[in-house]
Amino acid sequence: MGNDIRIEIGAPTGVEVAPDLWGLFFEDINTCLDGGLNAELVRNGDFEFTELDRPGWNALTGWEVDGEGSVVVRAEDPVHPNNARYVRAVGPVTLTNEGWDGVGVRAGEAHRLSLAAWRVFGAGRLRAAVVAPGGKELAAAHLDVPERGWNWLEADLRGAADGRGRLAIAVPNGLTVELDVISLRPIGGDGAPLDFRPDLLEALKDLSPSFVRFPGGCLAHGLGLANMYRWKRTIGPRHEREQLPNVWGYHQSRQIGYLEFFVLCEHLGATALPVVAAGVCCQNTRGGPVPIPAEEMADYVQEVLDLVEFANGPADSGWGRVRAELGHPEPFGLRYLGVGNEDAITDDFRERYAQIEDALRAAYPELTVVGTVGPAPQGIDWEAGWAYARERAVDIVDEHAYRTPRWFHQNVDRYAAYSRDESKVYFGEYAARTNRVRSALAEAAFMVGMERNSDVVKLASYAPLLARLGGTQWNPDLIYFDAETVLPTASYYVQQLFAAERGTDLREVRVVGAEPLPVSLPRAGTARVSSEGAAFELTDIVLDGAPLGPVTTRADGEVVTLGALDPASAVLELTATRTAGAKGVSVQLGGEGVESYIELVVPNWTGKETVVNRYDDGISNDDDGGYPWRSLRTGERLRIRAELDGARVRIWVDGDLLHDYEQDLRPEHRIVVGAASRAGKAGEEYVVRIVNATDEARTATVLLPTSADVVGAVTVLAGAGPDEGASAEASPVRPEALEASGAAGVVVLDVPPWSLSVAVLTPST
Ligand code: AHR
Repeated sequence: MGNDIRIEIGAPTGVEVAPDLWGLFFEDINTCLDGGLNAELVRNGDFEFTELDRPGWNALTGWEVDGEGSVVVRAEDPVHPNNARYVRAVGPVTLTNEGWDGVGVRAGEAHRLSLAAWRVFGAGRLRAAVVAPGGKELAAAHLDVPERGWNWLEADLRGAADGRGRLAIAVPNGLTVELDVISLRPIGGDGAPLDFRPDLLEALKDLSPSFVRFPGGCLAHGLGLANMYRWKRTIGPRHEREQLPNVWGYHQSRQIGYLEFFVLCEHLGATALPVVAAGVCCQNTRGGPVPIPAEEMADYVQEVLDLVEFANGPADSGWGRVRAELGHPEPFGLRYLGVGNEDAITDDFRERYAQIEDALRAAYPELTVVGTVGPAPQGIDWEAGWAYARERAVDIVDEHAYRTPRWFHQNVDRYAAYSRDESKVYFGEYAARTNRVRSALAEAAFMVGMERNSDVVKLASYAPLLARLGGTQWNPDLIYFDAETVLPTASYYVQQLFAAERGTDLREVRVVGAEPLPVSLPRAGTARVSSEGAAFELTDIVLDGAPLGPVTTRADGEVVTLGALDPASAVLELTATRTAGAKGVSVQLGGEGVESYIELVVPNWTGKETVVNRYDDGISNDDDGGYPWRSLRTGERLRIRAELDGARVRIWVDGDLLHDYEQDLRPEHRIVVGAASRAGKAGEEYVVRIVNATDEARTATVLLPTSADVVGAVTVLAGAGPDEGASAEASPVRPEALEASGAAGVVVLDVPPWSLSVAVLTPST
């Protein structure tokens, strides 16, 4: 049979494809909201940036002041207590805003400038212009500033040319004004300023999402109670919204708040999936997961109930009226609500989750509540979260997996083993660790597995969605962008292909000639040590019984080799003493570079856990842990012992056995096929997905359960090697549309190496 595979598509399995399966995870991470999807062109137009957002930031971050006059930041008489700072400008002076890598204008198009201002003293007009680097004015307008109190001013700046510049607001000699809430937005076809950047909105639309989750992620529960995302503080006039530091190290203006998120869903034709905090802030907060005090929980529960009324209540209901007054009388039809995100499953969490969910069930029994089972697809919180979900019969739980391609290929059948009688699954955050083709196809293989188990997995979303070049905290992401360009990744096209063509009824699929690939132990290599962000002295080293001399590691992460080792059977002991820095030590055992190896990290990035990773193809997976551990003091001596015995890995630190597990050697499903049928225009048609994550081209003979002739449209994502593609770059592969046909229910498809094919096959009637 050689490289041929035979795909026999059979009867309906009786399981329907989950109608909302493919959606989007939106979180304001990677500077993707202000400076991204938010169409606002002015950066820090409210003068509300502070040190708490990022050390060194202040009310004038993003602004420059030129001229003989002065600009001072004031807070005596703000536009609103939630927008506490503003500036007083004494002319002649020009305030210039850098925007987001410049302020972009389009020739012939209008851009709405709006601001709050009042004339304190003198006479004259403000002049606002977008000025290109050489001094050319791209757009300009004058504004008269009335006296006394805050006046809300507007002017339209029409682009004289396409280009990027800076917004300069000139205050003439003799005029003193106070200014705040400065905004410049492109104007849309309906004459109103745009909420969303059009090219990014288009990129999201092209993903045909069924749902959009927001506002996070970690952002939903926040670092500390004051940082928790509270929906009521994000609606209403922009200057009345509460602005907050972003957990990802910058500022949240909340110009895009809850109302705009619902409107975004409407634009995308998607249903909303808001996630509220489960009454507990993020466990990564210094001081741990702080709960809302018990006596404040009744108010918090009411706030969550009010959100549902805000979304769904008729325009004459309490919060429905608020929505109507904000310009949206029609309800949004909210069907899902997430409670909690990756929370540690503590008693505080359980109590608060239960209060919220009980109240939602009583008031809105038709709503599907999505609970949470920790940050990883295994481990302490996952187990405790699932036990709790079973106990409470939670509708759906949110599982997350940032794992290697190997993990995704090994776990294609993960959900086949799940009980059909328990909580359903939202696979709410996942990505196979890189932006390479290898990762995108591993995600595709797993997605076939999720779709196949639609009676368990109801919703799924890749994460994170968007990342601004130069403002990225987290890789990989689905879409990178800069001020002018959108860079979809290979994973983006995978998501697009799955969502664009969906069947309704899953079909039996038998594949012949696609054996899974075995996974082996890491091959013989070396024992190595390194430390990034810290320096260590390693002494009393004994490798497989042989004593070795001391070595040191530097904070730059340079790897120091200790000696040869076979990970099938090895023992390494050493004493590690941190001499500088705040991070942990990494001990690596096995192959080098892209070869597989085991890595122990004490402590890991949290500073209070240990973890064992396995690297494959240069990509790491948490193999065991992170498990809670005490933190490490500089100067303290740690005795580490690592024993590898076949698949078994054991790690002792100071005599305590911290890790004892078997490596996961289940084979990888590299060729994966899924099929579903649906009613087409001319009768039943079949949507067939074929993932080939191998080096070999295949010829697939697809046998449909019909004897009719068949025509087909096939979209193929192929043409690059597994390690092509990188973060911050456009995908090395793009979908290509092909045609296929066959007689007597048989269609032969060419399946390139490292490819995803989605075929829509239509038997003639
Ligand atoms: O997607 C980025 C982050 O990953 C999310 O905020 C969090 O839920 C997860 O840990």
